[in-house]
Amino acid sequence: MVQDKFDINLYLKERGKKVEEVLEIYFPKEKDYGERVISAAKYSVFAGGKRIRPILCLAGCEVVGGDWEKILFFAAGIECIHTYSLIHDDLPCMDDDDFRRGKPSCHKAFDEATAVLAGDGLQALAFQFFTHPDLVKKVNKTKLLKAIYIISKAIGLEGMVGGQMADLLMEGKKGNARILKWIHLNKTVRLIEASIISGAILGGAKSKEIKALSVFGKNLGFAFQIVDDLLDLVGDEKKLGKKIYSDIKKQKLTYPALFGIEKTRELAEKHTQKAISALKIFGENAQPLKSIAEFVLYRVN
Ligand code: IPE
Ligand code: IPE
Ligand code: MG
Ligand code: MG
Ligand code: MG
Repeated sequence: MVQDKFDINLYLKERGKKVEEVLEIYFPKEKDYGERVISAAKYSVFAGGKRIRPILCLAGCEVVGGDWEKILFFAAGIECIHTYSLIHDDLPCMDDDDFRRGKPSCHKAFDEATAVLAGDGLQALAFQFFTHPDLVKKVNKTKLLKAIYIISKAIGLEGMVGGQMADLLMEGKKGNARILKWIHLNKTVRLIEASIISGAILGGAKSKEIKALSVFGKNLGFAFQIVDDLLDLVGDEKKLGKKIYSDIKKQKLTYPALFGIEKTRELAEKHTQKAISALKIFGENAQPLKSIAEFVLYRVN
């Protein structure tokens, strides 16, 4: 039977909703003396967001023939990590951005100390999700440990945190393509790649499949951050949910700053094509990942 055209917006909406359901049910309740920090964490997690990383984790599981509904806890944990990174990224000592996901940033809605703690709490909550008894009983434990290791490495000193450090250190400096690539790789690409790979591992991927998904994830991740850099210049604040020209104000080392808008767009397209080419071995099963890559390239938020 010929399938109807794949509806990526519906797919993202439905998968995102599944992740949000788990987050909602299992999110710590606002009570006792820790109520304020729980409220702040909840505020940022449920402010919206595309849920791309957890959806990629589910899609990585699905493309190798795994049961994505079994790993919703894992995907929810990934979104907690991502939201923590956004809360800290917006702090005055970092990018100093007052809007996020269409609302005042966490430190604006609450205060700086609360935002720091909310981020810390979300990072820990992620590992609570990764090791939740209801997940542990459903998946292979060796595979689960491997998936947690991959995520941990991607977000730490040798990954996202290191990338964020370099991003800050390069503010106002000239820089070059090599440094910029390193920053993007670490601050953004590693978590995106790890989200897909962890899902694939939990879904029982073979090493050949992991290799292909790693090429896909890297290229998708670069396209993602390159488009994010572009949207800072050409985006519509209402749709974007954050202020534009933030990178210019901070004199960030970005793709448009180095190459101009046109060349930057070309680079995003090139990475998207490379990402899609890597999916060949999955045949028709690759449709969701292919559509996600196209969505990332053409996104407006
Ligand atoms: C923003 O990520 C931070 C970057 C790595 C560019 P997203 O664009 O995925 O943000 P949300 O989750 O949809 O708000
Ligand atoms: C953020 O990159 C990367 C992480 C949060 C790890 P940006 O600083 O470019 O993200 P936005 O533009 O504030 O969303
Ligand atoms: Mg930043
Ligand atoms: Mg920022
Ligand atoms: Mg940005």
